[in-house]
Amino acid sequence: MTDFENVTLELRGHAAVITINRPKALNALNSATLDDLAEALVEASTFEDLRALIITGSGDKAFVAGADISEMAEMSCIEAEDFALQGQEVLNGIEHFPAPVIAAVNGFALGGGTELAMACDLIICSSNAVFGQPEVKLGVIPGFGGTQRLARLVGAMRAREIIFTGRNVSAAEAAEIGLVIRVLPEGESVLDAAIAMAGKIARVGPVAVRLAKRAINENVDSALPVALAAERTLFALCMSTDDQTEGMDAFLNKRKAEFQGR
Ligand code: CAA
Repeated sequence: MTDFENVTLELRGHAAVITINRPKALNALNSATLDDLAEALVEASTFEDLRALIITGSGDKAFVAGADISEMAEMSCIEAEDFALQGQEVLNGIEHFPAPVIAAVNGFALGGGTELAMACDLIICSSNAVFGQPEVKLGVIPGFGGTQRLARLVGAMRAREIIFTGRNVSAAEAAEIGLVIRVLPEGESVLDAAIAMAGKIARVGPVAVRLAKRAINENVDSALPVALAAERTLFALCMSTDDQTEGMDAFLNKRKAEFQGR
């Protein structure tokens, strides 16, 4: 386990777990915490044979209660732009992290918390999770990608309504609108569920999973012919891997594949 000031990083089987750990501010993201998160991502990317990364918050009340309001309150326009850029760059690093990233949302995920979760590939949450982009209540707009990623995930009109009103989105509604893929029953650990999901991902071809993530995340905003060309290239690249040889041989010989991630 590596302890940064406001973030911890540990390995659980084939999955790394990053925990935002700033309980006195409900895990709100100040610039020091964003720095820690960036460092933890770099360190996690060096883990050998990593099949998934999980991001969660410490405690059972909050995933991340947003960007840090006391820090933002003192910022000039230029400092605010730098802060938004810092947040966006860290979240882009999650979106393009080589292995799949699962957000295990364990309570409040407001503002920067919803934005952090949306940069992950998969979001699962506890029954007490609360999402939302309440920035307009503070006289600002989302600055860590919320206006863009929420619209892409749930549709522009629904995103407008959530952002313009700044209202809370319950776990049940988040599942209904496609913001999360699973809400855990009350009392079940969202981290355990994320580790179980990572375990399922760990059983299939590791290189294929990484290339599938790239095919989706690097091309989601491209024109379809460009995106399909990228998919063809990555599909063809799979044919140069030991995992492809093993996966197809195992199928044809009716045995379980033993993937090496090469
Ligand atoms: N920034 C800084 N501190 C925060 C915080 C935040 N986003 N959220 C909570 N805290 C602090 C509180 O100030 C409080 O500190 P003190 O004990 O020192 O007073 C502590 O965490 C506990 O919070 P509450 O007492 O408010 O707890 P609660 O249970 O009554 O309410 C809550 C929980 C509904 C999440 C409430 O804390 C809240 O509304 N937080 C702010 C949510 C928000 O507006 N987030 C968006 C931020 S803007 C943003 O994210 C911009 C962007 O896109 C870049």
